[in-house]
Amino acid sequence: VKIVTTHQLQSMKVRGEKISMLTAYDFSMATLLDAAGTDVLLVGDSASNVMAGHETTLPITLDQMIYHASSVVRGVKRAFVVVDLPFGSYQGNSSEALRSAIRIMKESGAHGVKLEGGVEIKESITRILSAGVPVMGHLGLTPQSIYKFGTYSVRAKEEAEAEKLLSDARLLQELGCFAIVLEKIPSALAKRVSEELDIPIIGIGAGPHVDGQVLVIHDLLGITKEFKPRFLRRYAELHETITSAVSNYIQDVKSLNFPTEEEAY
Ligand code: KIV
Ligand code: NA
Repeated sequence: VKIVTTHQLQSMKVRGEKISMLTAYDFSMATLLDAAGTDVLLVGDSASNVMAGHETTLPITLDQMIYHASSVVRGVKRAFVVVDLPFGSYQGNSSEALRSAIRIMKESGAHGVKLEGGVEIKESITRILSAGVPVMGHLGLTPQSIYKFGTYSVRAKEEAEAEKLLSDARLLQELGCFAIVLEKIPSALAKRVSEELDIPIIGIGAGPHVDGQVLVIHDLLGITKEFKPRFLRRYAELHETITSAVSNYIQDVKSLNFPTEEEAY
């Protein structure tokens, strides 16, 4: 039995203990993040960007998400593993949404799924929840809709969009979602949602007044060198560490300093 459950995440909100969530896409990283004590691991469709090198999250497929998710699950002993339903696998067809969610659960062994959007995907969420699959919502900046927004700038700054976000958040709770990610919205709005709702609100670029935080692990570790939005705090500069380690290796190979007789058989 996994130690972290949706019920525990709920009681963390009640106790005021903040929830830690990070993305993971592979076995080795998932093993490290789980052992460090991360509460929730998200197999994000940001894999499309950081793992596959696409400009957006749109191209990644359900099969590719299942490959990442199954790799992550094999590295986890404690964390709750959530997997993004990729673009095109759930919008506008609740039967397909259910089929996609069930494939993820069966083929990867993950513990729940995340879908972007509110009232537009109500039927899909309901259908997945009725199969007993925990659903995490995702509102605010929803990268699968990037071509509708046109930019990755802060969402819901205007009253109308803020009201829509609030009513979508209420709806997600009412439908039975166990948590909601709020991405890149004003801190005051995130605070209002977190205070009004009973389910945990996990923020990314949504300020401190939420029930937990999520970051893309490659950003936190400073592997992605150029990406430096205001909300990102880098806890390491791995691009430097990796570049200098690899340069040293190359030098040693070229100068015949690696391997030595001691490193040979
Ligand atoms: O795919 C992802 O990494 C995400 C998080 C940023 C919430 O959805
Ligand atoms: Na995502």
